[in-house]
Amino acid sequence: MGLLFDIVKPFIYMVNPETAHNWTETIFGLYPTFPFCFNHLIEKNFVDDPMLNQKVWGLEFPNPVGSAGGFDKNGKMIYALPILGFGWGQVGAITPRPQEGNPKPRVWRFPKFRAVQNAYGFNNDGVEAIKRRLEEKLPFTLPVGANIGKNKNTPEEKAIDDYRLLVKELKELVDFFEINLSSPNTPGLRELLTREFVQNLIAQLKKETDKPLLLKLSPDIPDGEIVELVTGAIEGGVDGIVVTNTTTDYSLIETPIKKGGISGEPLKERSFRVLQIVSQYAFGKVPIVSVGGIDSAQEAYRRIKAGATLLQLYTALIFQGPGIVGEINRGLVELLKKDGFTHISQAIGVDIPRGVEAKEGVPPVTSNPETSQNGGTEKGITSISEKNTHSSLPSPQLKEGEETPKENTSGEKGIERKKDKGDRRDNN
Ligand SMILES: Cc1cc2nc3c(=O)[nH]c(=O)nc-3n(C[C@H](O)[C@H](O)[C@H](O)COP(=O)(O)O)c2cc1C
Repeated sequence: MGLLFDIVKPFIYMVNPETAHNWTETIFGLYPTFPFCFNHLIEKNFVDDPMLNQKVWGLEFPNPVGSAGGFDKNGKMIYALPILGFGWGQVGAITPRPQEGNPKPRVWRFPKFRAVQNAYGFNNDGVEAIKRRLEEKLPFTLPVGANIGKNKNTPEEKAIDDYRLLVKELKELVDFFEINLSSPNTPGLRELLTREFVQNLIAQLKKETDKPLLLKLSPDIPDGEIVELVTGAIEGGVDGIVVTNTTTDYSLIETPIKKGGISGEPLKERSFRVLQIVSQYAFGKVPIVSVGGIDSAQEAYRRIKAGATLLQLYTALIFQGPGIVGEINRGLVELLKKDGFTHISQAIGVDIPRGVEAKEGVPPVTSNPETSQNGGTEKGITSISEKNTHSSLPSPQLKEGEETPKENTSGEKGIERKKDKGDRRDNN
């Protein structure tokens, strides 16, 4: 796969990235008609190792690597998830009304930096059309969420109505929601990222659904404000934090386009830093999802040890090809084994330093007793009876006799297991 991708890559790169992505959508859309053309890819790329199986928010994740927001804006790539090796995925960003997005061109590759810059602006078919498309594809075999955003022409004071409508429309179809307040491409969106707004938004959406609500943060927020936002989100009852979206730090690449957000390699260190900050406050309370520049098993493992229960990627697919997710998952199993772990949950958060107190003026995070099920990351852990029952994705073909996923507490329990092993938090 790697060699083949290296051969075709120069030809793909001759095409505008948006066009290349549209072709990819068309190719994967052929799955239901010609499944035999794709089954060998599922076998090759899809890793379902008991060491990586986790149950988070009552959903079963065969492996931790999911597709990031924007990969499947319109729900046309659900079939692509196991073919590319993803253990979970999402559709969107979806807005209530269809949107053209920004004028083209609006996405650029920077091969030298292994970076992409995009200024799409939530182009999507709107919730009605996407809902119909998802209904046709139900049930899914992997956890699939909705990445939700407000329409560009919705005034900020009405933003909550957009998110509420999206949750109402999609709650019977998807397994979780990823609330996008962090895209740099919708004017005014990032300004909504205040502690009060986030807390209120999540509390309002909680009234609409009991599906997990994840909040996706921008990497461009000053460190102290990240803590504020996470605090507000947890107090509002958020079920998970996703870090990070793309960055508008244009100093990271030479000759950037001065619009949109940068993803891939140049985002790596900032995304990691934000994960570290979030882990200080949210680890042990809600599961954390790391995204931004993940491009190898080593990087994936670094994120897990820094507190991420689950991971997402997008840009690495563009530069490393369709085998990258399988490569990361197989590499993760090896790295876990090398460190003497028998399950991913034992490694989650082992590198989080102890005893770091909240910054002055920043209140400590408290979990909402009404929404926190177990008062900790266990919030993400629900009963197996709520198990994801979706089953129409190309089946990743679970091997016979394979264990059901282990419950992942991704916080306390992970630490406990680590303590059993001599508490590597001190050693790393
Ligand atoms: C072309 C493109 C489109 C994107 N669209 C969205 C989107 O609609 N919603 C969203 O939450 N994030 C979107 N993102 C951000 C990604 O989900 C992810 O947070 C970011 O790219 C960092 O991950 P990566 O370095 O693995 O790509 C987009 C990224 C790219 C490259």
